[in-house]
Amino acid sequence: MSAGTSGQGAPDLAGSSAQASASGAPDTLAFSGITVRFGGIVALQDVSFNVAVGESVGLIGPNGAGKTTLLDVAAGVRRPQAGEVRLYGRAITRASVVRRARLGVARTFQQLSLFDGMTVREHVLLGYLAGRAPNMPLRGFLSRRSRVERTARADDSPLSPGALLSRLGLERVADELAGEQSVGVVRMVDLARALASRPRVLLLDEPVSGLSEHEADDVGRVLLSLRADHELAVLVVEHNLAFARLVSDRIVALDFGEVIASGAPGDVLSSDELRRAYFGADAQEEAVIAALGPAPVVAGPDASEAGG
Ligand SMILES: Nc1ncnc2c1ncn2[C@@H]1O[C@H](COP(=O)(O)OP(=O)(O)O)[C@@H](O)[C@H]1O
Ligand SMILES: [Mg+2]
Repeated sequence: MSAGTSGQGAPDLAGSSAQASASGAPDTLAFSGITVRFGGIVALQDVSFNVAVGESVGLIGPNGAGKTTLLDVAAGVRRPQAGEVRLYGRAITRASVVRRARLGVARTFQQLSLFDGMTVREHVLLGYLAGRAPNMPLRGFLSRRSRVERTARADDSPLSPGALLSRLGLERVADELAGEQSVGVVRMVDLARALASRPRVLLLDEPVSGLSEHEADDVGRVLLSLRADHELAVLVVEHNLAFARLVSDRIVALDFGEVIASGAPGDVLSSDELRRAYFGADAQEEAVIAALGPAPVVAGPDASEAGG
């Protein structure tokens, strides 16, 4: 069942089954009617939206809104009770994590998890190998490390391990243990590992949580340049609204598992629905402005309408 062995294997960009977004670009990732319940708790209720090629969609909402659950549904670690996930128009709702990785879905984690005793470079090499042999166990990687390293060194593409280490500012610490780095470095390592697999869809769960404003800006800049350069579809879950505004072409807001607003970042962030979700009905203007942060640092498509 390797990708590309049949007409079913490769993404069918021109195929009639591929849905087109409003912009006319094919949707890399599409959710329709996603519903997830945990016992009596409805974590997601009939959630539908798409992420197009070369687009970065921010998924925001208060704690418990269902953001991580939706990312789990996209990554294949949680099956929805209802609804469908599509990749290039093909249903992948029942596909395993490994199958999705093979199709180009990569994710980073809200809870940082690194392998003990492995260097920064080895983590990125692990991602590189994952893009080629998604179901190889860790010990398979360890026994092939020198061969993988040789192949990686000969790779001069923009998403090669060497290029990623340099682009994400990790060269200096490449041969140090990943577990001994600061939170900021570890988040970059996780991002580099995910990118090294050459994903077509990148799922990020709170990539700047625990980072300084300066480090968050670095992550933002890297994300903006990557999705433009590599035709990535990015779905980024973010609790930090200023960062969500910075890195999103479009924002989808969840509250109690339902989509309450979606559209241009400036519109969603200034919507009454979002105000109510985050601050209640009688939100003070100053509190809202303080939480949403200043206007975007990097001029985005919504920069001119940021004032309202
Ligand atoms: N494994 C689980 N078991 C039971 N309830 C869960 C589980 N995961 C999430 N939930 C519940 O589902 C809702 C959505 O959670 P989550 O997706 O983690 O929200 P967010 O990431 O937006 O903070 C919350 O009410 C949470 O308590
Ligand atoms: Mg979460």
